[in-house]
Amino acid sequence: MKTIKTSEEYLLSSLTREDLSTDPFNQFDKWFKDALASDIKEPNAMTLATVNADNTPSARMVLLKDYSTRGFIFFTNYSSRKGRSLLLTNPYAALVFWWEPLQRQIRIEGIAHKLSSKLSNEYFNSRPRGSQLGAIASQQSQTLDAYETLENQYKELDQRFRNKTIERPDNWGGIVINPERFEFWQGRPNRLHDRFIYQRDDKKNWQIERLYP
Ligand SMILES: Cc1cc2nc3c(=O)[nH]c(=O)nc-3n(C[C@H](O)[C@H](O)[C@H](O)COP(=O)(O)O)c2cc1C
Repeated sequence: MKTIKTSEEYLLSSLTREDLSTDPFNQFDKWFKDALASDIKEPNAMTLATVNADNTPSARMVLLKDYSTRGFIFFTNYSSRKGRSLLLTNPYAALVFWWEPLQRQIRIEGIAHKLSSKLSNEYFNSRPRGSQLGAIASQQSQTLDAYETLENQYKELDQRFRNKTIERPDNWGGIVINPERFEFWQGRPNRLHDRFIYQRDDKKNWQIERLYP
């Protein structure tokens, strides 16, 4: 077999039990701020994995727009493939961040629900007009016969909403992932990486364990 040769050794850092915050949200915040301070262009880009109605997995990139102990928020079309999976068939989701310059990966697994209309409206209203029109024009994940069709729909909406406030469509807004498990991964030499998971115990306290890499 002719394998792909990449020979990156992860020498930058390490992660010990003492380094970790007792609260995984604080730990995420610490690492996210490190990623923001690095030269990563979109540290908020994350892979979102969902489960389809037939139990097959599906993954794609989305942008994290906010996070707190109430969850991790991204915005999308609720009628899209991911939207229907999360809101109609299976609310379990997994998120993955890979910050190559920091040699760090974070995995989050949890349960999805819709963000409140109030907060979705606030975000939609803050977006540039072009993005607002784009959100309405795109029937995300549906078959599109030609790019021109989409452009024409966009132009038609642009005319229709000339000098008018554009309201958030019902099928577009935020989804919140409420974490049940976090994993923090720091690359180490010889593939002997550091991995720590946080999971809640019976009393809802976060327990930390180190895993073999
Ligand atoms: C870097 C990056 C960021 C993206 N961010 C979003 C996002 O925040 N929301 C979204 O709906 N799609 C986003 N997309 C597009 C999705 O990856 C995907 O193509 C789209 O949402 C349709 O997915 P679905 O058919 O599985 O629902 C992004 C793509 C990339 C490459």
